Amino acid sequence: MTDIKKLISQMTLEEKAGLLSGDDFWHTKAVERLGIPRTMVSDGPHGLRKQDLKADHLGINDSIKAVCFPTASATAASFDPKMLRDMGAAIGDSCQHEQVSVVLGPAVNIKRSPLCGRNFEYFSEDPYLAGRMATALIQGVQSRNVGTSIKHFALNSQEHRRMSSSSDCDEQAIREIYFPAFEMAVKEAQPWTVMCSYNKINGVFASENPWLLTEVLRKEWGFKGYVMSDWGAVSDRVAGVAAGLDLEMPSSGGVNDRKIVKAVREGRLSEAAVDLACERILTIVYRYLESEKPETPWDMEAQHAQAADIAADCMVLLKNEDQILPLKKEDEIAFIGEFAAKPRFQGGGSSHINCFKITGALEAAAGLKVTYARGYSVADDAATDEMIAEAVEAAKKAKAAVVFAGLPDSYESEGYDRQHMRMPECQIRVIEAVAAANPNTVVVLHNGSPVEMPWIGRVKAVLEAYLGGQAVGEAAVRVLFGDVNPSGHLPESFPLKLEDNPSYLFYGGEGNVTEYREGVFVGYRYYDKKKMDVLFPFGFGLSYTTFDFSDLRLSAGEIGDEDTLEATVRVTNTGDRPGKAVVQLYVGSPSEEVIRPVRELKGFSKVFLNPGESKEVAFTLDKRSFAYWNQSLHDWHVPNGTYTIEIGDSSRNLPLCAPVEIRSSAVIPRHYDMNSIFLDIVADPKAAPIIRAFMAERMPKPVEEGKSEAAAEAINEEMGLAMLNYMPLRAVAGLGGHPEAEGEVEALIRRLNGEE
Ligand code: BGC
Repeated sequence: MTDIKKLISQMTLEEKAGLLSGDDFWHTKAVERLGIPRTMVSDGPHGLRKQDLKADHLGINDSIKAVCFPTASATAASFDPKMLRDMGAAIGDSCQHEQVSVVLGPAVNIKRSPLCGRNFEYFSEDPYLAGRMATALIQGVQSRNVGTSIKHFALNSQEHRRMSSSSDCDEQAIREIYFPAFEMAVKEAQPWTVMCSYNKINGVFASENPWLLTEVLRKEWGFKGYVMSDWGAVSDRVAGVAAGLDLEMPSSGGVNDRKIVKAVREGRLSEAAVDLACERILTIVYRYLESEKPETPWDMEAQHAQAADIAADCMVLLKNEDQILPLKKEDEIAFIGEFAAKPRFQGGGSSHINCFKITGALEAAAGLKVTYARGYSVADDAATDEMIAEAVEAAKKAKAAVVFAGLPDSYESEGYDRQHMRMPECQIRVIEAVAAANPNTVVVLHNGSPVEMPWIGRVKAVLEAYLGGQAVGEAAVRVLFGDVNPSGHLPESFPLKLEDNPSYLFYGGEGNVTEYREGVFVGYRYYDKKKMDVLFPFGFGLSYTTFDFSDLRLSAGEIGDEDTLEATVRVTNTGDRPGKAVVQLYVGSPSEEVIRPVRELKGFSKVFLNPGESKEVAFTLDKRSFAYWNQSLHDWHVPNGTYTIEIGDSSRNLPLCAPVEIRSSAVIPRHYDMNSIFLDIVADPKAAPIIRAFMAERMPKPVEEGKSEAAAEAINEEMGLAMLNYMPLRAVAGLGGHPEAEGEVEALIRRLNGEE
């Protein structure tokens, strides 16, 4: 084991400052004098994008041939962390083979709006799902002794002005929505590195934010690795070192290294902070070097096959009227749309992979009775009359028509956001023309984020393939023809229209400020609270078989907030095909005290079942499953009350429900003053008897006798009490009508506060 501290003690200040930024675009610096070699990092997240020669972070120049696995938009839909772990291990192997020490991913930013250009790289609108998937991917990669860089920390849910915009958000939403995926991954998988985002958070750049990078990430969550900047995210490098940003990427050409040296010499930055950053970087550098295995084989064909298996298990069957799917292999089927031949399976930007091979659905269907019509041109984003006529002709002749549609590359990419949620006009025309020609029309969608579907009523089936990686065509054919039973579920809500989305009014922001005004009500948390119709709800996905949920049992009917609760449920395959069910558990909280979502996902499990087979699934819930972030406690808190455990296969299909009573052990510090109101004082078990006794002595007794009818109507007892609820103590002092009243109330306040 290399003695890192000793190495650092031998370095000059210049060498140490130098180590805190990249050597070039993709390498950490070497210190040859001390035998410290440089190491390479590469994108990420769904495969390896290693650039040998010309470097850039926008996907402009070529990288080496590699395997593009399904993007996070698709893998999240699998609800299968085990599968993600295996995918991570495969990516880890390719990194070992290529001598890459850290792969830049996973990316776990929350899908706040369907418009974010990078949604295809992100997992979900739900932090728990995003956290579980990210944790699994990290564990997989790191099982091969290669590091990960969970990104982009944090609140980077838009591309618009991404390098200058401030994401302004209340701490409750940050803690409940935008942090948990990072938090879970750090606590459960210890990513070797974290990548901070470009944006500011409440006015402070992530790259120089001590609260973010030190207080929360390291002190609260226990992160042990190094923090690197997103490419070009550094504004004030010296402030960054002090805040906990260890490595600046890419190289600053020495400019910032000199600023660090100067700041230390002038006493504006402690040398200890520089040493600490060096220690964190070198610890990871040597962790990799000491387990480097360039002899690891990289079997790309095997990984392509793995990518196909994964993609098939990610596909979400959204509609299947008359059980039109699966198609029969003996029938003549028309494949329509350029995406059938040349699928869209990944997005633009830094995650763009140079695939060693790509399989389209048409190629994968070789040997079946499949005809093809191009339908539309992706390059021209247009469909000529001839193309439509040809598509209609092909559809008429076939038993069923499958239109491959979705979003072309230019519609969604890193670097900019979408302006709308619509599909290309030309593709809609093709779908409508084909559907009019053949009642058995199926649509396969390739898109990284939700689209509006004005045509949905006219087609029989819809299969959401997302951006499913280079083998997506094979996967689509397996699902369409029933070799694989679809088991994906939506990791996000599909609103009917963009305007329904909770961030719609504020998304993108004004100038360099974007306010996250919807707070915790992101995705289904909003649609459920508002009881709004959606096109497809979070968690939704059909299968070629059917499942039944029964026997929900809780380990206790009442628990303390520090206890755990076991929930078990039976799931049965009631259809005639083997299939995988996604059992989802949501927690609902009492709504009296705090404004909270109706339900939140707190557990899920993917279960394979043969026809007729039944399995018991168990979930363990802990304090965090029930808690919300309490601003005054500045901690997680579970208020007393009755919570509900709901089980089903989507956020809107939850046939089982059971209550659990939770007692809080937290003592909320309360302080009373002249402006405290009765309602709050009476709700505090300690204060209630004190104020009751005080009032009993002083309140005038209601005179019922002789009260006029008008007076009785004006206010009855119930109304009187309700009014008293909102009365502050200062009003009691005022109402006392004698000079000592104020002093008496002040004495009461001291007693309420336990001061006498
Ligand atoms: C992206 C990161 C990526 C980096 C390096 C940046 O533009 O935001 O996700 O890892 O470039 O390519």
